[in-house]
Amino acid sequence: MTTIAFLACETTLPGSNTRREDAFEHDLMIEAIRPAFEQKTWELRVIDWEAPMAAFDGVDLVMLGTSWNYADNSDAFHAKLEALEAAGINVCNNAAIVRWNISKTYLQELAKHGARTIPTLWLDHLSAADAEAAFGQFDCEKLVVKRQIGAGAEGQDLLERGAVPADWQFTHPAMVQPFLPAIAEKGEFSFLFFGGSYGHCVRKLPDAGDYRIQSLYGGRELAHDPSADEIAQAAAIIEALPFDAPLYARIDMLEGEDGRLMVMEAELIEPYLYPEQGPQMGENLANAIVKELEL
Ligand SMILES: Nc1ncnc2c1ncn2[C@@H]1O[C@H](COP(=O)(O)OP(=O)(O)O)[C@@H](O)[C@H]1O
Ligand SMILES: [Mg+2]
Repeated sequence: MTTIAFLACETTLPGSNTRREDAFEHDLMIEAIRPAFEQKTWELRVIDWEAPMAAFDGVDLVMLGTSWNYADNSDAFHAKLEALEAAGINVCNNAAIVRWNISKTYLQELAKHGARTIPTLWLDHLSAADAEAAFGQFDCEKLVVKRQIGAGAEGQDLLERGAVPADWQFTHPAMVQPFLPAIAEKGEFSFLFFGGSYGHCVRKLPDAGDYRIQSLYGGRELAHDPSADEIAQAAAIIEALPFDAPLYARIDMLEGEDGRLMVMEAELIEPYLYPEQGPQMGENLANAIVKELEL
């Protein structure tokens, strides 16, 4: 019997007192995966990553699923992934990939391997004067300042040239990018890959007047049927990864001024896999697991 563990956490597990409001995404993922695993006669075990090692007895593969709280305790999280690997369990995506993917500085490496990335300044902290200099450097009117380590657009700033308050500062290691206006009309595209093969695509649009596509800010998600050329542009990002194609990858892209897609993020640590827009998601994932485990 093949057993697959879906790694969750206290704030995503059903029945938890501290369950997050957006943990319905956990339920949607499980609903999508369960029938595909049943079809293969696999056991699906949903496990809190903080559970003792004994909870993983007999598990063949651990899939990082909705272990969303790992950032609060990242040393323990890494230690757990490494302990699972040491116990001979196939962890997907593996501990080395997780380490690589935590800081968005990985985008520099993707760029070196030929990926089309958004021009970015990498600074440990910024003052208003640094921001004004960045407008000059990029020759643009709006800038996005983000944390190098972050998610959900948290702590992010949108700045306008000539309107940065003198006392403005950004105290986290930062990445500064020109604001790409395509985000408003065209939105952001998430391309889902399973074992390196393209599965489906989602188009994410911000609310009127906002530029963040996250649902927390009123963003919405639509199924998108990309052209072969768009898929090829996303596949080029998978090619640029400095390791073999992982079990799953979500490549977030948006259009640059020239109409070509640029990579915003390559999400390899438990990204939401948008099962609602990809009815074949569970099956694609199961087939990638077959390859991973050489079943
Ligand atoms: N250079 C940019 N131009 C336009 N919009 C951006 C830019 N960078 C980020 N955004 C917006 O901010 C959101 C969050 O940025 P992102 O890099 O995806 O970080 P994370 O999702 O990890 O918080 C994006 O989904 C997008 O809506
Ligand atoms: Mg993002």
